[in-house]
Amino acid sequence: MEAFRIIGGKPLVGTVRVCAAKNAVLPILAACMLLHEPVTLNGCPYLSDVENMLSLLCALGCRTRREGKTIQIDPKGADGCVMPEALSSALRSSIFMLGPVLARNGMADFAYPGGCEIGARPIDLHLQGLRKLGAHIEEKHGRIRCEGKLRGAHIHLDYPSVGATENILMAALCAEGTTVLSNAAREPEVNDLANFLRTCGGRIEGVGTGTLTIHNSVLHGCTYAPVPDRITAGTLLIGAAMTGGRVTVADAVPEHLLALTEKLKEAGCQVLCDESGVTASRTGKLLPISRLETAPFPGFPTDLQAPMTALLTQAVGTSLMQEKVFENRMLHVPELKKLGADITVQGNSAIVSGGRPLYGAEVTAKDLRAGAALCLAGLCAQGETIVKNVRLIDRGYARFEEILKSLGTDIERIERND
Ligand code: EPZ
Repeated sequence: MEAFRIIGGKPLVGTVRVCAAKNAVLPILAACMLLHEPVTLNGCPYLSDVENMLSLLCALGCRTRREGKTIQIDPKGADGCVMPEALSSALRSSIFMLGPVLARNGMADFAYPGGCEIGARPIDLHLQGLRKLGAHIEEKHGRIRCEGKLRGAHIHLDYPSVGATENILMAALCAEGTTVLSNAAREPEVNDLANFLRTCGGRIEGVGTGTLTIHNSVLHGCTYAPVPDRITAGTLLIGAAMTGGRVTVADAVPEHLLALTEKLKEAGCQVLCDESGVTASRTGKLLPISRLETAPFPGFPTDLQAPMTALLTQAVGTSLMQEKVFENRMLHVPELKKLGADITVQGNSAIVSGGRPLYGAEVTAKDLRAGAALCLAGLCAQGETIVKNVRLIDRGYARFEEILKSLGTDIERIERND
């Protein structure tokens, strides 16, 4: 199993560019099943999740080709409706394909994607929305079989689910008439999917407002560059603040990071947004944050909760971090405690008594963002830290160790037998 070996004590310093957002590329790839013409996507990162999604598209009859960070997808003749079990259980995001495959071919037969480390990951909101669009859905033996002709409807989501918003948005574009989707997710990646679909000719109103009006549309191919990855950008800005360095993320979008940058300032860091990008630095002491909770956009992103909790271990005083989006996203805490952090977990709240030094140890990534948090903590720890199970980190951060090394830190990828 591969691991990272980190020698702590060096601050993150420098300028980086981030690739297209994983959580924008994945639904955009799924959306290609709505099309009958080729699509070219630029700036796409090498991530295992992206490669798995390309395999799913091929299994459904698409032809795909990658040249560096450019991916070409030709969905002509992609009449597949049955998602192979092995593929769909390997990638939770396969569920994004349900709406597009059903809308394109009138039928979709998928395995339940199942839960993961951070939660049960139910899909009830996805299925409720597709049923309201007229889909007949049968759930048995761990599979979901959908069929029927879709027609527009008024759908109100009980919760602004990112995936459910994206699934319903894609299906509604090929439903008869018009669909109004309220309490829709407003994450930048959702907006980027909508912008991709508009580039393909999709008639969508209200992008970013929480209420989407989606009209039946004739779609065509396009060339598109998905939005930069705000979670990778945020992780690196937190790393700069945590290590007392200075990092500029050249293509970060300030409005996508506002919840984070406001909290970094509250923690005593300097944040600059200008034509060179978004820069975070810290010269004085880190300050504790009395209460921080994750929420749907524009609230503090759950995907930055673990890296921010790692930062709070270095802020002198008591901080409270509350995870309000997923039910089991404190898996990084026991691993941070192995490095010497003083954190008490009560339900989905972490009470951090910060300011204690961290000491290198062997730790294990339990989900991709937790793994990134452990890397940041290792950069601050005295001595050597081994972060195991980095294949989870590879799912969401392309060659993370190379980015951190380019910012002046001592990290390398090693092979471990355990
Ligand atoms: C997307 O997951 C992201 N994944 C997640 O990123 C991200 O953490 C999450 O949105 C929240 O921003 C991708 O885009 C591929 P949700 P998704 O549906 O769509 C509950 C990462 O690290 N829910 O908004 O699954 C659900 O259980 C990953 O990059 C239902 O109850 O998120 C959760 O508690 C992790 N029923 C909450 O809503 C449903 O039908 C948020 O889930 C759907 C969701």
